[in-house]
Amino acid sequence: MPQYTLNINKTSYDVVAAAGTSLLWVLREDLGLTGTKYGYGISQCGACTIHLDKQPIKARLLPIEQFTAGQEITTIECLSEDGDHPVQRAWIEAQAPQCGYCHSGQIMQAVALLEQKEHPTLDEIKAHMNDNLCRYGTYMRILTAIEMAAKTKNSTS
Ligand code: FES
Repeated sequence: MPQYTLNINKTSYDVVAAAGTSLLWVLREDLGLTGTKYGYGISQCGACTIHLDKQPIKARLLPIEQFTAGQEITTIECLSEDGDHPVQRAWIEAQAPQCGYCHSGQIMQAVALLEQKEHPTLDEIKAHMNDNLCRYGTYMRILTAIEMAAKTKNSTS
């Protein structure tokens, strides 16, 4: 099988995988980065959202051969060592999760927004978060958390 060199969370990894293997499986199964979740499996719910060069992308349907060592892949494990990134703190303060399954992706999506725009409007937040679904409908608390994070932080990852 071919070998790929990936830059994930500021670390270089050599991964052996069949062509066509989803980046999500490489993250979860090969590298143990299980913070990124498998949702509906068709890149529609956003549970598998990560960052590629600081832009949010859905890892599920992206084949491993699409990535190069020069690209920066970031998962939720890299936001902060202690889970205290400003967006994560706001998430806890707003009690955003219900079951919590969708929230790694929600947080990664939100962090990308706040890195691009420190103080987005509510409409901008809604538009940016539109593709991240929550089966428990915690949307109001998610919006609250993002507004709280925007008020209290300069987002870093
Ligand atoms: S809190 Fe469980 S899917 Fe959103």
